[in-house]
Amino acid sequence: MDPEASLHARAARLRAEIEAHNHRYYVLDQPSIPDAEYDRLMRELVDLEREHPQLQTADSPTQRVGGEPAAGFEQVHHRVAMLSLDNAYTDEELIAFDQRNRQRLGMEGEISYSAEPKLDGVAISLRYERGMLVQASTRGDGTTGEDVTRNVRTIRAVPLRLRSAAPPVLLEVRGEVYLPKKGFETLNARAVAQGERLFANPRNAAAGSIRQLDPQLAAARPLAFYAYGFGETGDMVMSPTHSAGLALLRSLGLPVSGLCEVVEGVDGCLRYYARMVDKRAGLPYEIDGVVFKVDDEALRKELGAVSRAPRWAIARKFPAEEVLSIVEGVDFQVGRTGAITPVARLKPVFVGGVTVSNATLHNFDELERKDVRPGDTVVVRRAGDVIPEIAAVLLERRPKGSRVVHMPQQCPACGSDVIKPEGQAIARCTGGLVCSAQRRQGLAHFASRRAMDIDGLGEKLIEQLVASGLVESPADLYRLPPGRLLDLERMGEKSVAGLLAAIAGSRQTSLARFLFALGIPGVGEATAAALAAHFGQLERLEQATEAGLQEVPDVGPAIAAAVHAFFAQEHNREVIAELRRLGVSWPEDAGVRSQASPLAGKTLVLTGTLAHMTREEAEARIRELGGKVSGSVSGRSSYLVCGENPGSKLARAQALGVPVLGEAEFLAYLDEDGLKT
Ligand code: IVH
Repeated sequence: MDPEASLHARAARLRAEIEAHNHRYYVLDQPSIPDAEYDRLMRELVDLEREHPQLQTADSPTQRVGGEPAAGFEQVHHRVAMLSLDNAYTDEELIAFDQRNRQRLGMEGEISYSAEPKLDGVAISLRYERGMLVQASTRGDGTTGEDVTRNVRTIRAVPLRLRSAAPPVLLEVRGEVYLPKKGFETLNARAVAQGERLFANPRNAAAGSIRQLDPQLAAARPLAFYAYGFGETGDMVMSPTHSAGLALLRSLGLPVSGLCEVVEGVDGCLRYYARMVDKRAGLPYEIDGVVFKVDDEALRKELGAVSRAPRWAIARKFPAEEVLSIVEGVDFQVGRTGAITPVARLKPVFVGGVTVSNATLHNFDELERKDVRPGDTVVVRRAGDVIPEIAAVLLERRPKGSRVVHMPQQCPACGSDVIKPEGQAIARCTGGLVCSAQRRQGLAHFASRRAMDIDGLGEKLIEQLVASGLVESPADLYRLPPGRLLDLERMGEKSVAGLLAAIAGSRQTSLARFLFALGIPGVGEATAAALAAHFGQLERLEQATEAGLQEVPDVGPAIAAAVHAFFAQEHNREVIAELRRLGVSWPEDAGVRSQASPLAGKTLVLTGTLAHMTREEAEARIRELGGKVSGSVSGRSSYLVCGENPGSKLARAQALGVPVLGEAEFLAYLDEDGLKT
């Protein structure tokens, strides 16, 4: 094909593909690809048409702003167009936006920007005449939208009447109808119960609800609204800045996000963005970025707009939380307790701010349900700090002849039989101690930073130690023959000395760390600390009955049984005795003392940065003293420990009347036990 023809063909394919997605998205409310992938296709077409204007057609999807008006709703003409926003995907693009603005305006100094969260919902225009809500409409293609008044009237956050004794003759408020995360969960839970189709995300659910023809159904959906701007305003006297405009909207009874603020210059924008990245996961609604708008209305006028977006505003988008990748294979990982986890190996992709090349499939039931196969195109999702997962398989892109992945009958590490008890999701290797994978994992856990903290003993080295037969149980670590270590790969005199010193140093530990290091099923760091605090001495814990174990806060029947079973094993008691003979020890009375600690039984929440210790150290100290650490403030929190640059937890604690400790006060609490180092 000649180059011109192949460009034409590429543009035509992109147009057809984008239109097909538009239809699925706007008409069927059933998107099949992540937003980021849609944006990528759209950007490719925009770029192609910009470089080769002859490729542009009148019906190209680049020629309109939003969706088509749907049949079933009256059309509404927007006298003031509902524009869209340009996007910045990197800091550099944001910096360029600010530079362009200053150049156009011939400004030396900084521009003030109104910084706002970019809510992920549906743009709506509310028309108030003499203070009464008379019409609500969607954006549609920017000039013609749909009349959704009856549905919007069911949203409690939207005032039906403005709070003003002398309301403006005409006021159009622009804003976003959205579905809070909680509402989304409730809605999908209800859908599951009634065997209905699930919504892909809160935005789709909001869009679907707003365009629901039956207002009663729309009313059953817990939608909310935030205002962020103005449409037609008749003869109203307008505020000189956007931020003052938002304040006016608030005073008229319209909800405006509390996260809106004015920032100075591009540095202010970058800092705001960074703060919102941190806040995002904790917000009660989804945001997909932040919006920066020139605050001064006169400057805005000067900058004007291009066809579909104003020059004075930009959306700095967060890294996409959902992107496409290809499954290169499915591996089986053997965990410390023999549990076998299928893991999809992916073509590396940048998602949620990190590069991801593996996604856990959790267990074989999940693998069967999702039916992920090598060669599949999949939606990879990583939100916040959550581990990456495969959200969906694009069946329409599945290659011919692909094969279903089955549970292995033999352990991939040791060849022992794999069993999966009826009704249980977890498949396990039956190899126990003969399984080198289990042994390796157990040792890696034992040596890990939050357990025995043996610096330099990583997975690679453990693999060698196990393979060479030098280490079978954790006790072997404390009697390593230095001479033999020199035979291992990449181990010189210096690294051997360093390793032996780290192992020797780990002998002095705490009972809580030691219990955690043992890797008893179900006993994480917090439970280990609780057991240590309750029993104080290992011997008392070893002899505890299941009933006695259940007296420990947070220990239920399952963990009590697991702990009891662990200590009932002769083999385990022997390894512990050996470890102690080899010098592993801890202050015997630490646990007993912690019962008298002012933090015993208390729940603490941490926010901001502490100057004297890391977050992890602070958490460990609280647990050692018998306290609990929680990630969020609630009415049950005992204290909020507040460091530098606290997050939203501080305001929440103040609102709930939870006492707030500064760092000095917190240290004093630790000190009261004389345990502070
Ligand atoms: S201002 C002329 N502010 O993002 C400027 N939009 O991608 C128009 N959005 O259609 C929009 N939060 O639906 C603006 N604080 C905010 C926003 C916001 C969410 C949505 C809105 C708009 C889309 C553009």
